[in-house]
Amino acid sequence: MSSPLVSRMQGFADSIFSEMTQRALQYDAVNLGQGFPDQDTPAALKQIAQDQIASGANQYAPGIGKPVLRQAIAEHQRRFYGLTVDPDTEVLVTVGATEALTATVLALVEPGDEVITFEPFFDIYASAIAVAGGVQRTVPMLFPDFAMDFDGLKEQINDRTRAIMLNNPHNPTGRVFSEEELSQLAAIAIQHDLIVISDEVYEHLVFDGLTHTPIAALPGMAQRTLTVSSGGKTFSATGWKVGWVHGNAELISAVKAVKQAMTFAASGPFQDAIAEGLGFSDKFFAAGAEDLQSRRDLLLAGLTEIGIPFAQPAGTYFVVADVSGLGGADALAFCRRAPKEYGVVAVPVSAFCATTDHSASLVRLAYCKRPETISAGIDKLAALAPDPAKMP
Ligand SMILES: Cc1ncc(COP(=O)(O)O)c(C=O)c1O
Repeated sequence: MSSPLVSRMQGFADSIFSEMTQRALQYDAVNLGQGFPDQDTPAALKQIAQDQIASGANQYAPGIGKPVLRQAIAEHQRRFYGLTVDPDTEVLVTVGATEALTATVLALVEPGDEVITFEPFFDIYASAIAVAGGVQRTVPMLFPDFAMDFDGLKEQINDRTRAIMLNNPHNPTGRVFSEEELSQLAAIAIQHDLIVISDEVYEHLVFDGLTHTPIAALPGMAQRTLTVSSGGKTFSATGWKVGWVHGNAELISAVKAVKQAMTFAASGPFQDAIAEGLGFSDKFFAAGAEDLQSRRDLLLAGLTEIGIPFAQPAGTYFVVADVSGLGGADALAFCRRAPKEYGVVAVPVSAFCATTDHSASLVRLAYCKRPETISAGIDKLAALAPDPAKMP
């Protein structure tokens, strides 16, 4: 029987992330694949969610989100980035960043409209564009620099182009785009009157003294940018699925019309908890980034020792590494056999690409894991490295 799935979604039936997590469990392999953190959510936030449930706050939250969270999001954007956001008209709370991204694309993209993504791209962008009946155009960023190619970007723009999807800090490459790159991107968006959908879920996970700059903070960009984020990564609460999108009131009102057809409202008790978290001290945010930076350094030191080339990540949970020297010239095949045969899980970068020729031997490894998990993963990879004593 042919698949009942509509044709535009047929390329998205299986998620490589679920497949790899399943294999990790099946073979009890060290999971450096899926990007969920090993550490738990702050106790104070868990307590707030529990108290909310115990006190009976268990019915629908307002469709646009609880006022306490919308105010906390607006205040967070002011405090960290100097952005002025009206919590009543310019913020929409969603079921994770995922719903924010999909609802935004559905709200703004007519069938046949084109949306540009940089490649590699987070897989949800492609499926969101497909659900909307849009056309995805990609601009490759190449290992190991993963720099934005502005000539390539300009070549992809035409009369049907509606939006550019940006992810900063970037999954899977770990890039934190420079202000110079963001300015060039902003200039192109303004020149061609494009909307920028900016996914900033890793905004607090940047290293080496860098700071995150939302593209909405650049001159002329607030009016044409929809900024998406969520509490999942910042507060190690990926299972709570509290996300948001903010931007000008007209755009937010359009996204709300779609969001309300998808889920109407997000879970209430978690919204109070994330609102509290967004108001935590600067020390909390800095400590989270520092802790993750030390895990990154542990994994990078291991890769360096084994001799695996990688792209230095300045943010996120991830590093992209080239496993051709470990027998992984075909990284997809390598990742499929790795859980069973090598006892370790990685994700092929081809899962983030529409064209795979420039990423065939690249894998994404996650370091948002306990140090002992990272060390165990390094040991598994080291066992695959050619023995220098046996080299010609
Ligand atoms: C770049 C990026 N955007 C969005 C998401 C999804 O965020 P959420 O869990 O809040 O839906 C993720 C999760 O891995 C991500 O890496």
